[in-house]
Amino acid sequence: MGLESPDDAGVYRLSPDLALIQTVDFFTPVVDDPYNFGLIAAANSLSDIYAMGGRPLTAMNIICFPAGKMPIEILREVLRGGIEKVKEAGAVIVGGHSVEDDEMKYGLAVTGIVQPTRILTNKGARPGDLLVLTKPIGTGIINTAIKGNLASPELIEKAVKIMAALNKEAAEAMEGFGVSACTDVTGFGLLGHAFEMIEQTDVGLKIFVEKIPVIEGVRGLASMGILPAGLYRNKEFRKDAILELEKVDPVDLDILFDPQTSGGLLIAVKNEEARSLVDKLRKRGAEAAIIGEFLDTHPSKIILEK
Ligand code: CO
Ligand code: CO
Ligand code: CO
Repeated sequence: MGLESPDDAGVYRLSPDLALIQTVDFFTPVVDDPYNFGLIAAANSLSDIYAMGGRPLTAMNIICFPAGKMPIEILREVLRGGIEKVKEAGAVIVGGHSVEDDEMKYGLAVTGIVQPTRILTNKGARPGDLLVLTKPIGTGIINTAIKGNLASPELIEKAVKIMAALNKEAAEAMEGFGVSACTDVTGFGLLGHAFEMIEQTDVGLKIFVEKIPVIEGVRGLASMGILPAGLYRNKEFRKDAILELEKVDPVDLDILFDPQTSGGLLIAVKNEEARSLVDKLRKRGAEAAIIGEFLDTHPSKIILEK
């Protein structure tokens, strides 16, 4: 697969029934606890493999560390979190690379496999398909609150749990369902990634705003204007894709464009199968919901419905 239409990860066919999936992601700490940061960074890096319908096999650590300024124990804790998450994914860390840097950064380069006939790209949703989201949103707003010492310990704990959760279960749950497209929600926010599913296609997308699971407490923070800089960029970048933008509640719009760290999967699934997919996801502990419907009208546009 080429770079003309960017997807979650690169795919390279090795043989008629085996393809390699490769992806890389790393970033600066989003939470104060180094072990939790390791868990989150690893879960985030592994996510793009799941979004392609694949299974991770190996991972390599990418580490930037201010060796003179920070105790080495912090790095050990970050790596312990990373190893733990990779193990949970059923993959192994086979190496890595570290450089001295002023600011700590961590993530993984991950290699996975997929059957070429089972590759899921972000395009391919058919009119009538429903859109399923597998994790609640709002982690970018919470991370901003954490940086400003405005997040309660309970809220931090909740956000860590959501961000550290692998998309493995969700990816396994969708096997056997009529899934036409899949991606994960990360830096561009829910609407940014949902838009990628219909960008330059004949398909439109209606989003049921009230059905979107939002982490409790996020709305309050958003109303107070505690918003990450990336949110404004996301909104500016994609606002033209939204029909009748002026009618949308501004706080809703902010939350829908909030950049997510290690967000859930967005799954386009056959209308009549969506309910049972969501039931299956919920049984496995995911806060999943049907949040939209693909349309044969309004090509490449998003309609937000209260
Ligand atoms: Co992705
Ligand atoms: Co990525
Ligand atoms: Co994909």
